[in-house]
Amino acid sequence: MFKVERVLSNVVRPLRHKILRPNLPFEDSILPEDDFLSSAHFIVKNNGNIVSVASVYKEYFEAIPTRKGYRLRGMATEKKEQGKGFGTVVLKGAIHYLKNETDADIIWCNARVSAFGFYEKMGFIIVGDEFDLSNIGPHKTGYIEV
Ligand SMILES: CC(C)(COP(=O)(O)OP(=O)(O)OC[C@H]1O[C@@H](n2cnc3c(N)ncnc32)[C@H](O)[C@@H]1OP(=O)(O)O)[C@@H](O)C(=O)NCCC(=O)NCCS
Repeated sequence: MFKVERVLSNVVRPLRHKILRPNLPFEDSILPEDDFLSSAHFIVKNNGNIVSVASVYKEYFEAIPTRKGYRLRGMATEKKEQGKGFGTVVLKGAIHYLKNETDADIIWCNARVSAFGFYEKMGFIIVGDEFDLSNIGPHKTGYIEV
């Protein structure tokens, strides 16, 4: 049974950088909203090492403006630990937090097409067309009810 811990932003950044933006400067993995009071960061450890991270930010979801949206960002699992369930654990932990400690009713993300299979397994619904983000590649937007 793996425990999800809520942590400060500086704790998630090394893995976020290593997995999501390895070719960019470390500063590129720092988001301006990281330390907002409404932001939250989560980790799961295996044998004492952080193996998966995820962050959520209070951010309006344009596609469904009537709902209270939180945005998932910085979702990453250590390469050699991928496919072992850690991403699921940390994302479920973030959703549990949103459900119990915020007014969120949906969580949404701009997901890399290469990772969308993961989000679909988590129940995310795709909204709109595929689009490109410079330096990162093709993305799709998806959401789930919290
Ligand atoms: C996407 C990512 C966070 C998933 O984390 P993970 O720890 O590997 O996920 P899990 O092991 O919990 O996978 C849950 C399910 O999703 C599937 N899955 C995971 N990554 C997938 C992918 N990229 N494409 C398709 N399916 C995927 C798994 O096979 C598993 O399926 P199963 O339940 O049938 O076994 C991780 O692979 C990762 O860090 N990828 C590189 C960075 C990235 O693209 N992050 C997302 C940016 S939007």
